[in-house]
Amino acid sequence: MTSKTNSRSILVTSALYYANGHLHLGHIVESIQSDIWVRLQKLQGHDCIHVSGSDAHGTPIMLQAEKLGISSEALVTKIGKEHQAEFAAFLVNFDNFYSTHSKENQFFTELLYTRLRDKGDIATRTIKQAYDPVKNMFLPDRYVKGECPKCGSPDQYGDNCESCGATYSPTELKNPISVVSGVKPIEKESEHYFFKLENYAEYLKQWTRQGHLQEQIVNKLNEWFEAGLKQWDISRDGPYFGFPIPQTTDKFFYVWMDAPIGYIASFKNWCDKHPEIPFEKYWQKDSPCELYHFIGKDIIYFHALFWTAMLHGSDFRTPTAIYAHGFLTINGQKMSKSRGTFITAKNYLDHLQPEYLRYYFAAKLTDTIDDLDLNLDDFVSRVNADLIGKYVNIASRCASFITKHFAGELSATLADDVLYEKFVSESEQILQHFNARRYHRAIRDIMALADLANQFIDENKPWELVKKQDLAKVQTVCTQGLNLFRLLTIFLKPVLPEVAKNVETFLNIPPLSWEDIQNPLLSHTIQTYQPLMQRIDPKQVQAMIEQGKEMMSETPQPPKPSNDIAPTINYDDFAKVDLRIAKIINAEHVEGAEKLLKLTLSLGTENRQVFSGIKSAYTPESLIGKYTVMVANLAPRQMRFGLSEGMILAAGPGGSELWLLEPHDGAKEGMRVK
Ligand code: MSP
Ligand code: ZN
Repeated sequence: MTSKTNSRSILVTSALYYANGHLHLGHIVESIQSDIWVRLQKLQGHDCIHVSGSDAHGTPIMLQAEKLGISSEALVTKIGKEHQAEFAAFLVNFDNFYSTHSKENQFFTELLYTRLRDKGDIATRTIKQAYDPVKNMFLPDRYVKGECPKCGSPDQYGDNCESCGATYSPTELKNPISVVSGVKPIEKESEHYFFKLENYAEYLKQWTRQGHLQEQIVNKLNEWFEAGLKQWDISRDGPYFGFPIPQTTDKFFYVWMDAPIGYIASFKNWCDKHPEIPFEKYWQKDSPCELYHFIGKDIIYFHALFWTAMLHGSDFRTPTAIYAHGFLTINGQKMSKSRGTFITAKNYLDHLQPEYLRYYFAAKLTDTIDDLDLNLDDFVSRVNADLIGKYVNIASRCASFITKHFAGELSATLADDVLYEKFVSESEQILQHFNARRYHRAIRDIMALADLANQFIDENKPWELVKKQDLAKVQTVCTQGLNLFRLLTIFLKPVLPEVAKNVETFLNIPPLSWEDIQNPLLSHTIQTYQPLMQRIDPKQVQAMIEQGKEMMSETPQPPKPSNDIAPTINYDDFAKVDLRIAKIINAEHVEGAEKLLKLTLSLGTENRQVFSGIKSAYTPESLIGKYTVMVANLAPRQMRFGLSEGMILAAGPGGSELWLLEPHDGAKEGMRVK
């Protein structure tokens, strides 16, 4: 650690990402927002450490691993690696990316818990819950579906109705089914552990008014305070992927109990690799260090209330501030799979440069929790107009004159000191906007300065000065242009780190810092200019959308589980379907297909090749040797990857929640299903 006198010690966290799915551009909004902020702190010379990681525990991850035939640990490790690679590709520079399924996290979870328990903040009580009698597990609310008790809409989750907005408990649903096995859940009792949040009501009311939160959030919290704080259920029964609760046999900590503690664990893991960083100092009560959590607006309750109370109650420091952002919409709407606007990180990276998106999000990000829109047409025109048309253009307009007429040497003086000073004085405001997460305002100011720089070049016309042989002026004018460009690069460096690095190479200088603003670069030899950025071709965006759509439509989606029975068919219709037992004799990945596996099925007398959209639920290895049911007389269908000669049967809503129908032992391939 450095010991600069004005430097601050700052710990920043980004939310921990669930380790059971791909990252999408919504996740990327958050990591870009926090990464820009952290880079800015570092650029100012502060000690700033950015940690994140995988949120590893909980039922969805456990069930998905089971489907894939791998351990939960293996799934978390695999997805965690994938996420890390994608963040790196977006130039998000986490100092440490760890996992909540770690020894550090278990240690701190137990520590916080026992401290709270010993203070009397934990209550136990027996509650009734939905239970899957086939799968022998308690069902989280989202794993029970049925008809809304208020409006009767079919196919609603156990916690709220997407149709009328009612909230209720799964036991109130009409005709409920377990999403895991499809059977009707029963009610079962079990003892649960609760965190007595109400013990912290007064403390939290005060804390929320002390400037740690955005105004919109304070208002939201006041509503929650008025409604009254309830005890929080922090336990789950096994089978559950999580940490056992000390002194219990079959109880586990609920994923949201140990998730934020994962921030401490990730930081501890970093400190163990960097002994010069004083771990205790960052987390002790009344710590002189700063702690900021960047999160989405959907998880404010967990952070501002549960997490803050837990920290306070267990004698840790509380956050300096919680910075929540809004949700990403695309073309004005929620991301949609069918429109191809459910854009995964990978999907984007296959077609476009990360810095385009970093810039666009920066231009849109505010300090509020308002949603932000990625309008794809606006994205193309804005990036092209601002970054290529204005910013990069300054360098390309000036550099060739310096190279050609002065062997790369900048002049000893500027052509317009006043203009340079204007940029310097504006830098204060830009810095304040960035620090206050008003990135949109910072970008607006930066682009206004880029306009001034271009205007300066337009007015001084170095190409005409060359013709007039006024070479001294050519040199100072172009030196001026490049110096303004250099200042803009410093301002944009947190947003465009890779471009900034290339500019440093071009200008032949060490890494730029915010302090460098004060002194222009004079009597210095630069390198030959290389194009710094290419324009976006709208076709690239189109290709990304097409790929998104294609990934969704590789196979017809299985119908969502619904209690609405399809229209009646007669016996003859039914009799036409030839269902047979098939043995899966081979299963393999399909190159370039997101969802498909290629199966070879034996019907005893013949083999069939079938492409099946079950990759997100099964690995090829876990399928080989299994028996299943297939539609044997389905007309063959030519798919992008080959001919598909039939279909196998599976149940479930899709994605990782798909269960292959498996006949009992004794069924042989080729047998007719009656
Ligand atoms: N695992 C929890 C966080 C635990 S933090 C102790 C979680 N994970 S998440 O993967 O679902 O989301 C990670 C972050 O991405 C959250 O801050 C969430 O708000 C944010 N976003 C998820 N979808 C988003 C958008 N569509 N737009 C912007 N942010 C989004 O929640
Ligand atoms: Zn309803």
